[in-house]
Amino acid sequence: MRKKVLAGNWKMNLNSNQSSVLFSEITSSFIDNSYLKIIVFPPFLYTKDLLSIDSNVSIGVQNFHPESNGAYTGEVSVSQIKDIGVTHTLVGHSERRTLFNESDDFLKQKVDAALKNNIEVIFCCGESIEIRESANPEDFVTKQLHSSLFHLSKEEIQKCMIAYEPIWAIGTGKVANEDQISKMHTAIRNEIKSKYDEETANQISILYGGSCKPSNAKAIFSCENVDGGLIGGASLDSNSFVELSNCF
Ligand code: 13P
Repeated sequence: MRKKVLAGNWKMNLNSNQSSVLFSEITSSFIDNSYLKIIVFPPFLYTKDLLSIDSNVSIGVQNFHPESNGAYTGEVSVSQIKDIGVTHTLVGHSERRTLFNESDDFLKQKVDAALKNNIEVIFCCGESIEIRESANPEDFVTKQLHSSLFHLSKEEIQKCMIAYEPIWAIGTGKVANEDQISKMHTAIRNEIKSKYDEETANQISILYGGSCKPSNAKAIFSCENVDGGLIGGASLDSNSFVELSNCF
């Protein structure tokens, strides 16, 4: 059975001390649990410190460069993140797509580089408010999957998770409603099934992200085909994050 997943994307927040305190508060509250996987994505600078702590929480990076080395001033390479023991990465977050102009093709390169280095991918997708209001959001999101993820083999895609994050719900306090979430997650799973097969579709965890917090998480996590959450703001507070883990 596919795992439930609770992932915290800390984005560009916290200083070194705050990051260590938050991590230790989180790790001391989670018991080892084969049912729920917990992953945090700290700012890159603090990754190595957190990796040196023995815990049942996985550590991922928010970003990396797909080349192994070279003249890419300021970037951190896929082999460097592998070298320090990172196990997970986000790819395709809407903030990377829009603020840093990451194209579908570049995301495809990042997906390939991560998997080649045995780093598990959470591939993010999601539509803008304009698309939600004027077009077919399910078509838009499934196209994002075809553009940057569905070139993978069946074995490769089984090492990925997908996070549906409607852009209009990220950091806005506006949450997609249960119908919208179920419809999108079911469309994503059906698309995996038609591109690959039922077994593959049933193995891939599909997370929801966008203003998810303890007060709405139970309803979100009970929606059809939702296997967990990718949490921004509410992951910066250990009480909220731990509370979210009890909403499954
Ligand atoms: P918020 O939970 O702050 O809306 O952020 C969601 C997100 O972007 C997680 O990647």
